[in-house]
Amino acid sequence: MPSVSSLYRAIQRELGAWYDAHHRPLPWRQAVSAYHVLLSEIILQQTRVEQGIGYYHRFVEAFPRVEDLAGATEDEVLLLWQGLGYYSRGRNLRRAAQIIVSDYGGELPHTPEELSRLPGVGPYTRGAILSFAYDLPYPTVDGNVYRVLSRLFALTDPIDTTAGQRVYWALAEALLDRAHPSRHNQGLIELGALICLPRRPLCVECPVGDYCEARQRGIQEQLPVKQGRTEVRPRYMYYFLVRLQTEGETSCLIRRREGRDIWHGLYEYPLIESGETPLSVEELCETKEFTQLLGGLRSPSFHPTPLATQTHRLSHRLIQASLYLIDCAGLAGATDYLVIPEGEQTSYAFPVLIQRLREKIR
Ligand code: ADE
Repeated sequence: MPSVSSLYRAIQRELGAWYDAHHRPLPWRQAVSAYHVLLSEIILQQTRVEQGIGYYHRFVEAFPRVEDLAGATEDEVLLLWQGLGYYSRGRNLRRAAQIIVSDYGGELPHTPEELSRLPGVGPYTRGAILSFAYDLPYPTVDGNVYRVLSRLFALTDPIDTTAGQRVYWALAEALLDRAHPSRHNQGLIELGALICLPRRPLCVECPVGDYCEARQRGIQEQLPVKQGRTEVRPRYMYYFLVRLQTEGETSCLIRRREGRDIWHGLYEYPLIESGETPLSVEELCETKEFTQLLGGLRSPSFHPTPLATQTHRLSHRLIQASLYLIDCAGLAGATDYLVIPEGEQTSYAFPVLIQRLREKIR
């Protein structure tokens, strides 16, 4: 039996050599600043690398320096963020940039305490910035690293509980190669992305396969353990494409979502929600909101068959959305909605759900 420290050293050595030889040349790994690490890591939360690359390039081009991002409007940031989901990440990124500029002269701080004060920067992103950007000896654990560590050491502590996560963070800290924190942490992530795959891991190609406890016991595909999924509940949303025909131009109604709910800051069509209970068309037409909407229009004509329907999965919600058409001759009075030419919708950031509905009616 090797001692713990010699086992850890062997893992560090094999992992580091493998990373040097095999890592993907991802754009945020090419001699970048801490700002670029922040950008990429916020984009990559809940986003696949292949999808994140395009967004990363567009953000770097639009906001090459943290000052550029700090000076952007929320609408500009959300328009670029469109399609990535979890829009609070985009809003937080802009607010973090503003703090970096106002409180730190445009340079990301170098301590965990200061980094933690930035909106949207949790333990993972904090460790990523400190290690990837500054090569400081801090661990970081994302979904890939949870999987690698749970298999390497055959840990059955659930990765979706606070108590379980503490175990993995402590282990990541102990295993950290303090001479090469950036290479080591990125090596663990890369191993999870390329070799230690969720299903059918490529154990024969694994640089640390000889040290892998799960592989020795043949239980790698049963790890990591999750305590349990939270229930996914339905949410019914009825959108209305209100088409106004005025002076030869077709316009539609949109509004900016406010409040603390999903998608705030994004734009949407008039919407009626019925929570977890679906509505028949008759029930929809009897709602107060529907009467109000129609009452604000001149000569409205409601088409009772949806133009499109779309299902949209969020982490704890399954949204069932329908898009209905209302034609009208114009507004009957003042309105809280924006009236925009139909062709100008691409200038506004909409949730992907609405984009999908729109694609289906083309
Ligand atoms: N996933 C999250 N962060 C990543 C990174 N820096 N490189 C590759 N995949 C990642």
